[in-house]
Amino acid sequence: MLGGLAAPASAKGDASRGAYLAKLGGCLGCHTEVKKGAVPYAGGRALKTPFGTLYGPNITPHPQAGIGRWSEADFLRALRDGKRVDGAHLFPAFPYPSFTKITDEDARDLWAFLRSLPPSERANRAHDLSFPFGWRFLVGFWKMLYFTPGPFVAGPGRTPALNRGAYLVTALGHCGECHTPRNWLGAPDDSRALAGAKLAKGGGAPNLTPTRLKKWDDTELKEFLGSGLTPDGDVVGETMGEVIRNTTGQLTPEDLSALVAYLRSVPPIAEAPR
Ligand code: HEC
Ligand code: HEC
Repeated sequence: MLGGLAAPASAKGDASRGAYLAKLGGCLGCHTEVKKGAVPYAGGRALKTPFGTLYGPNITPHPQAGIGRWSEADFLRALRDGKRVDGAHLFPAFPYPSFTKITDEDARDLWAFLRSLPPSERANRAHDLSFPFGWRFLVGFWKMLYFTPGPFVAGPGRTPALNRGAYLVTALGHCGECHTPRNWLGAPDDSRALAGAKLAKGGGAPNLTPTRLKKWDDTELKEFLGSGLTPDGDVVGETMGEVIRNTTGQLTPEDLSALVAYLRSVPPIAEAPR
């Protein structure tokens, strides 16, 4: 199934490319504590979900506290199949329903980047999930119902730039993890992809389809995604503000244009009544 894994040993990942991809994936935010002097990627960030609070684990190469004993294949499996090194299911708060679409090449570069980090001995904190959502094996049933593993497939009718934008939005950038509504079991409603959703932390993520975003021209949308400022001079809230700091504000101009072009190309969906 993971056919691409059989690549020759010479196909080693490129850590500096991986550093950029890690920004696109927002890995830092979920895997770093929110406090002064926190060690990047050493874990501890509290993530509130309707099912309880999860803590992003330590993903530095420390052999006990982090993922130092993992192989590249273990890492690719975590992204592609949502499985831990011991084969147990990972909770989808780790956005592998989007990350499954990451290409093998990008996954290898991400791995090379993570291997280049200084190992941190910061111990992981156990998740605090409400019954029965803390039972990892139940995630297996959830995945059977709602999870489709497999890398991104380029749309044949799309230009390379639109395919790049689609990849940024749906795979690495995982925009739908907040902007696509979910059912009561946390599964995304693909018929309303990117059409806006309520968030566990309160507030909501607005509709990103043209129905709403046509209010801004490309320059305004790029300004917002680059700096968090809206044309009226409003400043974005903290949840999207972090995405802008860590991800969209770090994109190369080509990637930002591709992402915007893709958002312009998705089918318009009307706002859901709130
Ligand atoms: C929205 C938050 C979020 C983002 C973004 C995120 N992660 Fe995670 N990640 C998590 C959570 C939560 C877990 C723990 C899941 C569990 O315990 O089942 C996790 C688990 C992992 C694991 C498994 C660690 C272990 O000890 O089992 C790896 C590896 C990982 N993430 C790598 C990454 C990489 C690389 C990126 C960026 C491309 C990333 N994560 C982005 C939240 C996130
Ligand atoms: C962690 C959740 C989260 C993720 C991931 C996320 N967003 Fe957002 N986004 C929000 C929230 C919340 C708002 C509302 C911000 C506000 O009103 O201050 C928002 C607002 C926006 C807006 C402004 C829309 C408007 O009409 O005001 C745009 C554009 C946007 N996001 C694009 C993106 C893109 C592109 C991605 C993927 C790269 C993304 N978002 C990923 C939570 C998220």
